[in-house]
Amino acid sequence: MIGNRYKKIEKGGSSAGIGSGTYGEVFKCEDTQTGTIVAVKRIRTDLEDEGIPSTALREISVLRELQHPNIVDLQDCVQSAGRLYLVFEFVDKDLKRYMESHEGPLPSLTIKSFMHQLLSGLEFCHARGVMHRDLKPQNLLVSRDGRLKLADFGLARAFCPPIRPLTHEVVTLWFRPPEILLGSQTYAPPMDMWAVGTILAELAAKAPLFPGDSEIDELYKIFMLLGTPSEATWPGVTKLPDWNAIFPTWPRLSLRHAAPGLSDAGLDLLNKCLVYDPAARVSARRALKHPYFDGFDPATPAPPM
Ligand SMILES: Nc1ncnc2c1ncn2[C@@H]1O[C@H](COP(=O)(O)OP(=O)(O)O)[C@@H](O)[C@H]1O
Ligand SMILES: [Mg+2]
Repeated sequence: MIGNRYKKIEKGGSSAGIGSGTYGEVFKCEDTQTGTIVAVKRIRTDLEDEGIPSTALREISVLRELQHPNIVDLQDCVQSAGRLYLVFEFVDKDLKRYMESHEGPLPSLTIKSFMHQLLSGLEFCHARGVMHRDLKPQNLLVSRDGRLKLADFGLARAFCPPIRPLTHEVVTLWFRPPEILLGSQTYAPPMDMWAVGTILAELAAKAPLFPGDSEIDELYKIFMLLGTPSEATWPGVTKLPDWNAIFPTWPRLSLRHAAPGLSDAGLDLLNKCLVYDPAARVSARRALKHPYFDGFDPATPAPPM
């Protein structure tokens, strides 16, 4: 029992969590006051006596302010036995598991619906000065009725000016934008839009777009598809801290093979998310107005699982 209210639901006799990642373990629980199912995230902290970790405080205050149908609802916050628990609405599964459990390619309407919901949640965040900074399929939750919600704002941080240099390790490698890989210290909303592009391609291909196993491998995988950037394609790139004049020069390839089945409009949106120059990358707001969504009714839920 957590905080005299939330009862762990045991699976096959064990109380193994339903998921764990960077910051904590997540348990499926019953809210004994309402009888509803919730997801309780125990925040991992090495120094349990030293109070609530600042990462958690950040997540709490950010989430409390962000109430939107495409953002996971933080319902409660409990301190028990020196530990901190965050209570969220329970959402059936994350997008990674959704893709794994879905046989064959995802229907194009499902991809469009997920993209629209992802961008709607993100536009809401960006308009409030909040970046997600760790967008990836494991941090997007999908309900049984096809609703997608942004989760895991553990690394999110208000980007209200002045933009300060933050820590280097913020985004999982595969979704990390080239400006960060090249040592830029400026974290800005376009970094989330790069991740959106890689997620769109992953939805279409059902495989990660740039599955690099090191920073340099990640960078080279990007260069091999999009062409090695230059001052012509990305003004200022050669001034970035980790730019190297001896990077091999690869030509740009078509994105069509990277995102099979995506319509021309979808490919165009993908291209606009994967623009090298962060300043020229499409914003969430503009992406929602892209012709890819022409005629799309946001009220249409994605087909059920
Ligand atoms: N509200 C929720 N409902 C159902 N499952 C969840 C919920 N929140 C998280 N999970 C599962 O737990 C995993 C880890 O949660 P997350 O919030 O991403 O924590 P971390 O900071 O440890 O990555 C997610 O990838 C997802 O599979
Ligand atoms: Mg996570």
